[in-house]
This record gives sequence, structure tokens and C-alpha cells, in this order.
Amino acid sequence: MRHLMSPLDFSVEELDKLLSLAADIEKNPAKYAHKCDGKILATCFYEPSTRTRLSFESAMLRLGGQVLGFSEAGSSSAAKGESVSDTIRVISCYADICAIRHPKEGAPLVGSTKSLIPIINAGDGGHQHPTQTLTDLLTIKQKKGRLDNITIGLCGDLKFGRTVHSLIQALVRYSNVKFVLISPEELKLPSYIKEEVLDANKVSYKEVERMEDVMDSLDILYMTRIQKERFFNEEEYLRMKGFYILDEAKMKLAKEDMIVMHPLPRVNEISVNVDNDPRACYFDQAQYGVYVRMALILTLLEVEV
Ligand code: NCD
Repeated sequence: MRHLMSPLDFSVEELDKLLSLAADIEKNPAKYAHKCDGKILATCFYEPSTRTRLSFESAMLRLGGQVLGFSEAGSSSAAKGESVSDTIRVISCYADICAIRHPKEGAPLVGSTKSLIPIINAGDGGHQHPTQTLTDLLTIKQKKGRLDNITIGLCGDLKFGRTVHSLIQALVRYSNVKFVLISPEELKLPSYIKEEVLDANKVSYKEVERMEDVMDSLDILYMTRIQKERFFNEEEYLRMKGFYILDEAKMKLAKEDMIVMHPLPRVNEISVNVDNDPRACYFDQAQYGVYVRMALILTLLEVEV
């Protein structure tokens, strides 16, 4: 039995297979409509979510399976003081696979240790978000046709943004990927990721504060939200909140085939006027999230395809 805690839990070959499966699901959804008949997915969300939880549920329903779960800690026995590992141990009697999101780093991993079913980390605090990474990889592959030879700008809250942490881990395994880290001083990428992921893999990167200075060099611009809920004080958040706003004027500085990605939700870091620019991919990205999660469920449940 396999769990998914980090994007590194799959080899590059396994990832390739999973992304190809997701692409086939997009093209031939009917072929997969009953692959999970009789199976149940549990979604245990101790933190707010729209896309991740609902795309998981949509994925299971589109495979013919069923779903159960909770969407806030207050409506689960966590409110009575139950541990995550007890909750997950019990849920593994009710479902065949479980996606869990938790504000504490490592909570899904703890949950997986006692589980009888595959556990998927659907986001743990400011740490990792591997299924968003699968979504991001599929988006890059479909839109750019490759995962190597790219220059990607990661912009915004690189300190607390778990989607960025997981995406960097996944992308260092492809050749000639250049990272441009765009953030204010206060929200720079944590040094453990620079040392253990970028430096350890001899990947070059550059850190800048102004988006305008690097815009013309990027194949992909990955925008992120300032992670309000992980700030220690409101004042600090308010100071950072409007730091980056991607608008039409800044888009004029970019390559014609650059793509703009964002895991969503956006607050104000991308002007709505950018939405109609053909380079804006963030809503397609959300759609890809369903196909990739269908492929992930099939893979972890070892369903014959
Ligand atoms: C992200 C998350 O939860 O980390 N959202 C998502 O799953 N698409 C990004 C965010 O909340 O900013």
C-alpha cells in the first residue's frame, strides 16, 4: 500500500505515467467512468479548501465511486480531542482511500502510520501540497509541451506557500529548469529548501524583489497568494498584501508564449483584467486538477486501466 506525502514519493517515470494517464482521462472520460464503482473516498479537511476538496470529490464521483468526509475540524471528533492518527485509523474502516488537509506540518504523515488505506496529503501547513504539484506539472506539460528546459518565476509568498515548496522539489528532477524566486525580503524561500533541494541538486536560482526586472526572461510565471493564515500578526500581513499585483501593463513585458499559473484562490495579486489574456492558465489549471486526481486515485488504488 502506498501513500502520497510528498511529490518525491513518485519516481520521474511513475510521474510521467500518471500525467499520461491524466491526459488520457481528459480525452476519453467515458473509458474511466466506472473504474471505481463501489469504492469510497474520504476527504478529511481540518483547514479551508474549495478546489482541493471538491476536485478530489469530483474526481472520485467521475470514476463512479462515492465520497464522505468533513470539511472543518469543528465538525469532526478533533473537537473532542481525538488525535489525527486515531481519526484516520477509524476512517480507514469506512473508506478505501483518504485525502487529508491539516494546518500542522506532518499531520497527514502521522495519520498514515496507522492507516489501513492509502493516505494523500492534501496540504499540511506551510510544508507540502503534492497534489497541487501534480496539477501544476500536468498544466506545464499540456501548455508548454515539456517539463525540462524552462525558466519559471515563482512570485509572492515563498516562505509559507506550500505549493511552491512542493513544486520546486518536483521540478529539480528535470534538466535545465531555472528558478527565479520573486519575493519581498520577509517572504523569501526558506533556507532549508535552498540548501536541501536547490543547492543539493546543483540547481541554479536567482532571487529578486521586482517582478518587472525578470518578466521578459520567464517561460512560466507562477503567482501565489500571501498566506494570511500563517502570519503571526495582522499588521505584517497588511504590509505584504499588495506587494505584487500582476496587471496588463506587466503582462506587456512578458514573452508572448509565457504562461501565468496560480494555484488559486487569488486575492488581489492578479488583476481580473489579466483573465482574458490567452497566457492566463489558472482556470485551466484548476480543471487539470480533476484529471490528475482521477489518475492519482486510480494509481493508489491499483485499479487496472
Ligand atoms: C493552495 C493551498 O491550499 O495551499 N490552494 C490550493 O490548494 N489550490 C494555495 C493557497 O491557499 O494559497
